[in-house]
Amino acid sequence: MREVVLRAPDDYEGWRDAARALAEGSVPPEAVVWRVADDAPDLFVSPSEGPSDGPRRALRVARRFVDLAELVACHKDPERFAFLYRVLCRLQDEPRLLDITTDEDVFRIEMMAKSVRRDRHKMTAFVRFKEVAVEGVPPAYLAWFEPEHHIVALAAPFFVERFRAMPWTIVTPEARASWDGAALHFGPGGSRDEVPAEDATEEHWRTYYVNIFNPARLKVDAMKREMPMKYWKNLPEAQLIAPLIRAAGNDEARMVATPQKTVPKRAATIVARADEARATRDAPPPPAVHGGMGGNGLDALKREALACTRCDLHRFATQVVFGEGLSTADLVFVGEQPGDKEDLAGKPFIGPAGSLFDRALGEAGIDRSRAYVTNAVKHFKFEPRGKRRIHKKPGVGEINACHHWLEEELKILRPKLTIALGASAIRSLTGQSASVLSVRGTVLTSALAGPVFVTVHPSFLLRLPDEESQRTEYARFVEDLRAAKALAANGDAGGLQATGTLL
Ligand code: URA
Repeated sequence: MREVVLRAPDDYEGWRDAARALAEGSVPPEAVVWRVADDAPDLFVSPSEGPSDGPRRALRVARRFVDLAELVACHKDPERFAFLYRVLCRLQDEPRLLDITTDEDVFRIEMMAKSVRRDRHKMTAFVRFKEVAVEGVPPAYLAWFEPEHHIVALAAPFFVERFRAMPWTIVTPEARASWDGAALHFGPGGSRDEVPAEDATEEHWRTYYVNIFNPARLKVDAMKREMPMKYWKNLPEAQLIAPLIRAAGNDEARMVATPQKTVPKRAATIVARADEARATRDAPPPPAVHGGMGGNGLDALKREALACTRCDLHRFATQVVFGEGLSTADLVFVGEQPGDKEDLAGKPFIGPAGSLFDRALGEAGIDRSRAYVTNAVKHFKFEPRGKRRIHKKPGVGEINACHHWLEEELKILRPKLTIALGASAIRSLTGQSASVLSVRGTVLTSALAGPVFVTVHPSFLLRLPDEESQRTEYARFVEDLRAAKALAANGDAGGLQATGTLL
């Protein structure tokens, strides 16, 4: 009997190398025992015994089998490696085996791969990071998750892509994955106690969940399939599910039977919270507040905006990218919408357009940390293309839906001058469409923002085809920023004269 000892429970590469050598030597499946290093050895196996290699043969492996094997190697079935080797051996004599869907092994391999895929999907959907704050050290993010299969390494790249800008660790009973901002590391498993039970983000999740919960669309069975109950204990929003469902049932019954309110007490509290959140969202604004950096008014507004579902963009974007900067800023810059990098990091203007913007601000003598930078639309709109997400211009409907947040930001900020970077910002600030180049360098008046100075969006400069026009246009952009700075310094908010007109 041959014994193969694999490094780890998900050691696909170890299995592949050993399986290739064994199959090339025509070693039959029943002559091999597969074991993971930490598992106890099989007392009845003597590694020295066993048939010698049969005739050498060239191995045939279809891509489809490789894709399945990579997943199945992560399955919790202790027989997975032996099973995969058996299928590999069968494929040598039956190259079309995987097409025979009625074959028991084919059915089994497909089912196992499906189960691993599903587990990976659940992990990507239900991991909830909690902030761990230690004074003097940047915050780290920890999450606890209990996967069904050995999928930590399989799922980790997803979290790197999504949360590249923050250091995080996902702890599971069997293994952990950590991202330090530059590299991914794997380590031993841990326990739930390592992860704080509650943090400020929990409330965001709950508010978000209450806001997206739609009783008219409630399908309890489908919901349990999508969010199986075994994950609920680690989801902050899960404690709302039962009362919301009960309340929804009652709502329906109430509508049918009686116009009176008969919502149970706990559910009523939750529903009242949802109503409150919606009412706050739609209510007239609170009086303007000027706080310090990220003043209270802005913080509260941002918290509320995180649960925004005013248009469909929230369904695909990673998160709301709210404005950032000084709440007493003289200058407020309004861009179009976050890009790919901003969407992942949750911060405005940090990608390629943001770098160019920063450089131009510096040359114009504007300190970004003393300004406030935001966008007309707070969710990233994109079109998936392969693994990439390609920016799509927001439509008027999306700009209008998001206008509320910009309006509330400006009521709190009351800057001396708002700078519209491009057409979407003009649209949101003035309610009208205009060609940027026709009003560039002029001041428009906006009922919402007072004086609005217009210039191009920095990504316009990135799209210019040749170096010459890039240089000229960049210099003009810096000039515009200097002019905006001078305008804000010389005039007060009311004193700026409108110099541009919108047709
Ligand atoms: N473009 C924008 O308009 N805003 C950003 O935050 C990034 C790119």
